[in-house]
Amino acid sequence: MTFSHRLPRELRPNALTELLAEKKKAGAPILDLTESNPTHAGIEYPAGFLSCLASEAAARYEPEPFGLPSARETIAREYGAPVDRVVLTASTSEAYSWLFKLLCDPGDEVLVPRPSYPLFDYLAALESVNVRHYGLFYDHGWFIDFHTLERAIGERTRAIVLVNPNNPTGHFLRSHELEQLCGFGLPIISDEVFRDYQLNPASDSVPTLQDLDATLVFTLNGLSKTVGLPQMKLAWTIANGPRDQVAEALARLEIIADTYLSAGTPVQCALPSLLELRGPVQGQIMRRLRENLAVLNASGLRVLDVEAGWYAIVAQEEGSELRLLREHDVLVQPGYFYDFENPGYIVISLLTAPEIFREGIRRLRLG
Ligand SMILES: Cc1ncc(COP(=O)(O)O)c(C=O)c1O
Repeated sequence: MTFSHRLPRELRPNALTELLAEKKKAGAPILDLTESNPTHAGIEYPAGFLSCLASEAAARYEPEPFGLPSARETIAREYGAPVDRVVLTASTSEAYSWLFKLLCDPGDEVLVPRPSYPLFDYLAALESVNVRHYGLFYDHGWFIDFHTLERAIGERTRAIVLVNPNNPTGHFLRSHELEQLCGFGLPIISDEVFRDYQLNPASDSVPTLQDLDATLVFTLNGLSKTVGLPQMKLAWTIANGPRDQVAEALARLEIIADTYLSAGTPVQCALPSLLELRGPVQGQIMRRLRENLAVLNASGLRVLDVEAGWYAIVAQEEGSELRLLREHDVLVQPGYFYDFENPGYIVISLLTAPEIFREGIRRLRLG
């Protein structure tokens, strides 16, 4: 039997996952500093909020490739975008896969930031698309290394992926970077799922690329981070750019969307009510992120400046993730999960419950 080359050959778990499984089997109480699932992190949702999923309208099935008109109108209104440019999917991960299908043939390339979110390798491989990296560099804030971006562009480059703000660096696009980025004339996919979580008031505010019309741009967001409800499975893409390019792109995207029809009806009907949770949920998440960041910044550990998003990057010796788990029962992510060039960093989630975070940081300081 053979399997597709789009999937990894080697399925063995990595050393950290193996050690974690051993520890759990032995009943060790793990302090998990990687928790980024808001539904596991003690975020409170208003009592009874799920009742909005049970509307009568959800009993009917209306197959609409880009999603129900009422749900698309809600997003159009909330984000100030024309409704015919709003496309609903079950997740932003799915939106990536549709956009890679739309823009790439097998063997084509997309440019992805480094360091960044590890899922891109899988999302691209599953579409038979190759990932090429452009660098982000740190200088009390993260910036795009445009030399690496220019070098990465080749004949088969079909899109530039921007994670704005980035997971885990918190990099977001500066105005001078925007101009340079548009100058390449390539379609841009701007993942803005963390846009509501800006932590450094001294920074410029995170710009959305949603209104950009110089080049074809797809802006992604969804319920996972905006209202801390990843289990709802609803995300939105807003397309913009030169009018004829947008029209052509949407006409083709509609074929993909019509093939999958993936956004669920109950969640689409509930969208206005779910978006009302943004205030209370984002308020709690922001307080959590700030509180944990203050603990971390006061800890004496070397922490890179955090400007936005849910993560912090801490300097630690190479390989310390294994030692921290083995000796102190503390789970962190090694920087190499995110393709850091410098191996001396770990990544921790600022969403972690405060009592776990404090004790975890205390143990991190023990080294
Ligand atoms: C940058 C980024 N984009 C997208 C996602 C996935 O969101 P979704 O649940 O909508 O697929 C994540 C999840 O952590 C993320 O970090």
